Amino acid sequence: MKELTIFSPATVANVSCGFDALGFALESLGDEMIFRRNEKSNIQITKIEGAELSYDINKNVVGVVAQAMLRDQSEKIGIDIEVYKNFKPGSGLGSSAASASGTAFAVNELLGKPFSMLELTKYAMLGEEAACGSQIADNVSAALYGGFILVRSYDPLDIISLPVPDELYATVIHPQIEIKTKDARDVLSDHVSLKDATTQWANVGGLVSGLYSNNYELISNSLQDVVVEPLRKRLIPHFDKVKEAAISNGALGAGISGSGPTIFALSKGLDTAQKVAKSMHNVYNNTGIDFEIHVSKINTEGIKILDKK
Ligand code: HSE
Repeated sequence: MKELTIFSPATVANVSCGFDALGFALESLGDEMIFRRNEKSNIQITKIEGAELSYDINKNVVGVVAQAMLRDQSEKIGIDIEVYKNFKPGSGLGSSAASASGTAFAVNELLGKPFSMLELTKYAMLGEEAACGSQIADNVSAALYGGFILVRSYDPLDIISLPVPDELYATVIHPQIEIKTKDARDVLSDHVSLKDATTQWANVGGLVSGLYSNNYELISNSLQDVVVEPLRKRLIPHFDKVKEAAISNGALGAGISGSGPTIFALSKGLDTAQKVAKSMHNVYNNTGIDFEIHVSKINTEGIKILDKK
């Protein structure tokens, strides 16, 4: 194979109660990337559209991930990479994760698939480290595996794919302000009270159980975050109003997508998800802050090959 065009999805990490442990991928929002073998045996980022990002392969996550994979490989190939970003970095929708996991996936395809999914996740986590200083797996594994994922353990890395109820839709509102993941992690506390920890892990159990049993009421009751959201929501203008509007218009729950500022809601059915989108629109419409809203089914396939030559 000489050339590969892929779609790498945007992702919602944490999913309220599952900080650094839960995530899901979106069907209708993501980046496109083209990977083309070159004659020079080096990695080059030849085009970036849709965001101001470095072309330096030691700084851009795309270069970091591709170089790490090729270092561990006997076959020496060169690759030109084009990146077409459809959502901005610092959105809370896994922008760096889409680039990192897209690279891991595509380089593996060009090499003839020597790496396992878990190894690809580890390579993509190197990209997350380059982007925000921490090897976080929730966004990258959601992008790679698709659907809902649970990072059951970081050491050793253990990713569990969870089922996706058919009628589940996500609505996301992305205020056009940037929050760096590192800054959103810096506001967190290292200490959690036993009471809050109990609430949090009970909700993770409830959410996982709700996904397995198609129990939308249980999913709704479990979409609560008493640990991270209270500390981060002040970084996001009008967070409480958007959340209230989403829930009073029928959403199962709403919360911060990853490290924000995007706010996500989950709904049963497309009609409700669209009603929720309208209610979010109404909250943000007169704030003077630009925003984008997307309604999407959950992506159950992960990264998709759009074209290969
Ligand atoms: N779980 C991460 C966080 C996702 O919330 O900081 C952002 O990459």
